[in-house]
Amino acid sequence: MTPPLLNGPVLGIESSCDETAAAVLAPDGRVLAEAVLSQTEEHARFGGVVPELAARAHLVHLPGLVVRVMAEAGVAPAGLGGVAASSGPGLIGGLIVGAGFGKGMALAHGLPFVAVNHLEAHALTPRLPGLVGGGVAFPYLLLLLSGGHCQCVAVEGLGRYRRLGTTLDDAVGEAFDKAAKLLGLPWPGGPHMERLAAQGDAGRVALPRPLLGRAGCDFSFSGLKTALAQAVGKAADPADIAASFQASVAAVVADRARHALAMMQEATALVVSGGVAANGAVRTALAAVAAGAGLPLVAPPVRLCTDNAVMVAWCGIERLREGLADPLDHAPRPRWPLDEMRGTGVGS
Ligand code: KG4
Ligand code: ZN
Repeated sequence: MTPPLLNGPVLGIESSCDETAAAVLAPDGRVLAEAVLSQTEEHARFGGVVPELAARAHLVHLPGLVVRVMAEAGVAPAGLGGVAASSGPGLIGGLIVGAGFGKGMALAHGLPFVAVNHLEAHALTPRLPGLVGGGVAFPYLLLLLSGGHCQCVAVEGLGRYRRLGTTLDDAVGEAFDKAAKLLGLPWPGGPHMERLAAQGDAGRVALPRPLLGRAGCDFSFSGLKTALAQAVGKAADPADIAASFQASVAAVVADRARHALAMMQEATALVVSGGVAANGAVRTALAAVAAGAGLPLVAPPVRLCTDNAVMVAWCGIERLREGLADPLDHAPRPRWPLDEMRGTGVGS
């Protein structure tokens, strides 16, 4: 059956944080073109993302990026089947730039528009057919581990998400970034921490493993950060501190994932996404958890784990296939919990 609202490639636009990204995907999920411009260098000297600078950078870079991916995909705007743009949660300035641009294209060419929930886009990424043969089927457990998000989500079907646990304080990537800062490493700190940890011995510095073994699958990292600050104060070896920190995070994440799987017996896969999914120690710990539960661990390639527009276009495709377009007066939302999504009951 021809999908009701999808008769051509979909343009995806991402601008919710500090990545400006655009991608064009064929209706079957094949990536025809993709591009990401990271603003890391523009924000690095401030030690974090400056929202106003981010919005302005999206404004400068997005039009050219869209023209580029459209040319690379060999698709004219009128030949698109739809436009999907991240419309929340995220930094409102950037969301307004990306969603406004997407709506302009949809209006000019009479295309359906999808106001994409950025978290849903992360959640549906493993279903991209090119990733795992045919894409992961519902239901699965998603661990979203990024700089802004830290959640265990039961992905039951399109638009049907149950948040099983979240962080009580910092997101896990934020914890890596704060730890790195305390150790005098550049922002964003995660990759630097991993490199430093490789030279250290986790056994030489004792750090806590917050909530390990505790019921449920919430996270907490503020105590770990404080303990790390104390270790820095005692002049422990930085590499040993980084190694111990990373070991603690990996152990905690694995423990939380184990609990989340117990809370979602019907899961057919364990999926990890977000920038922290790039961390080798975290991946190894999660692979052991998945193996213990007899499930595959699905970790998309890093470029699809971090913010990108392929996942946004794919989310648009999943929604348009179900006839779920959005009106052009949809207002971008800085806060937009996954549980508030709607769907058609697919996967039920
Ligand atoms: O998903 P992401 O690119 O952006 C959002 O937060 O939405 O995640 C970025 C986060 C940063 O906090 C960064 O330090 C962390 O992911 N990260 C890592 C690694 N690579 C990136 N953390 C630990 N180890 C890594 N190799
Ligand atoms: Zn993200």
